[in-house]
Amino acid sequence: MQTSEIESKADFEHIRYAQLWEDADVLTKGLGDCKGGTLVSICSAGDNALAMLTLDPAKVVVVDLSLAQIACLKLRIGAFTNLTHPEFLQLMGARPSDNRKALLSKALKGTDAETTAYWQGLADEVEQHGAGGAGKFERYFRIFRTRLLPFVHSRKTIDDTFVSRPKPERQKFLDTRFNTWRWRLLLNAFFSRFVMGRMGRDKAFFDHVEGSPAEHVARRIHHAAVECDPAENPYLHWILKGTHGDALPMTWREEHYETIKARLDRLDIRPGSLEAFVSTGEKADGFNLSDIFEYMSAEVFEQVYGSVLAASAPGARLVYWNMMVPRRVPPAFAQQVTTLTALEDTLKAQDKAFFYSDFVVEEVT
Ligand SMILES: C[S@@+](CC[C@H](N)C(=O)[O-])C[C@H]1O[C@@H](n2cnc3c(N)ncnc32)[C@H](O)[C@@H]1O
Repeated sequence: MQTSEIESKADFEHIRYAQLWEDADVLTKGLGDCKGGTLVSICSAGDNALAMLTLDPAKVVVVDLSLAQIACLKLRIGAFTNLTHPEFLQLMGARPSDNRKALLSKALKGTDAETTAYWQGLADEVEQHGAGGAGKFERYFRIFRTRLLPFVHSRKTIDDTFVSRPKPERQKFLDTRFNTWRWRLLLNAFFSRFVMGRMGRDKAFFDHVEGSPAEHVARRIHHAAVECDPAENPYLHWILKGTHGDALPMTWREEHYETIKARLDRLDIRPGSLEAFVSTGEKADGFNLSDIFEYMSAEVFEQVYGSVLAASAPGARLVYWNMMVPRRVPPAFAQQVTTLTALEDTLKAQDKAFFYSDFVVEEVT
C-alpha cells in the first residue's frame, strides 16, 4: 500500500474533526450530476461522504488515513440506522440533550466491537458536547468560546449576530458592534501560528502556509458576516454558541435524513490513503478531496494530482478547498482538465464554511 507524505508527520490517534467543517451544499453542487457513478470522498468526520449519497451515485468510496475519523463515519451510520432525526441532532450536539449516553448506546447497536469500544470511551465527552463536539478542532473552538469570547462580546452581541438583516445592515453590525478592538486583539492572539498549531491543527500542517492565520480569518469573517447571512450559517453558530440554531449542515438536515439512511449500503469504507485508492486501477466519476492538497509539498501535490487524474473517468470532477495554501491544477496537467470558473465563483459566494480562501472545481476532459 502506498503511504502518504503527511502520514509520517502528524499524529492521527485522536479525532481531529468530529464534524465536517466544509460545506456539503457547495460540495454536492460542485460535483454536479453523479447519478449511478462512483464517487470518492475523504472521510474526515464522514458528513460529506454521507451528503454525497443524495447525488444518487452507485457508490461512495470513503478513504482516510485516520481510524478515529473513520470511527466518526461509523457512528453516523449507526445513528442514521437506529435513531430518529431529532435523536440524531441531540446525539451530535446540534440540539441540547440530557440523554446522550443512552442515544450513543442506541446508535452503536450493530456497530463493530472496536468502534463501539472507541466511542464508549468517549461517552463523557459525547454527553457534554455531543458527538460532533468530540474532536480536537471543536475543543479549540470551545476554549475560544467559553474562555475568551466572554471577555470580548456580551451574550447579547452574540445573539444579535444571528438576527437576519439585509446586507448593508450586516456591514454596519460588523463595523459597529462586532469588529471591536478587543475582537481584533483576540483574533491576533488566538489565531497565531503557535496557538493554532498547538491546539487545533498539527504544526506539520503549517509547513507550507504563508501569511498570518489571523489576517486570513478576519477576511473570511467578512464573508461570513456580511457577504452571507449569519442567520443561515450553522458553522458560525457552532463556533460562537457551541450548538446549532435553525440552520444545520446539509447532512444533518431533516430533508435528507431518509434518503441518506436508505443509501448507507452504497458506502464503501476503505481505511487508508487516497494514494492507495488511486493505485488500485479503479476509475471514479467525482472526488471530494477536502483540503488535503494543502497538507502536501508542491512536488507531492503534483504527483498525487497526476495519479488522481489517472483514476478519473472522462468528465469526472475534482472538488477541493484551500485554506491558506494555493493549490490548483499543476501546469503539467492543465491540458487535461477544465476549471469550472463560473460554477466556482457562484459556489464560493455561497460557501458557509468560511475559513477557506479558495474552492476548486476541475473537470477531466
Ligand atoms: C485534510 S483534513 C481537513 C479537514 C476538514 N477541513 C474538515 O473540516 O473536516 C480531512 C481528513 O483528511 C485525512 N487525510 C489527509 N491526507 C490524506 C490522504 N492523503 N489520504 C487520505 N486521507 C487523508 C485526514 O486524516 C483528515 O481526517
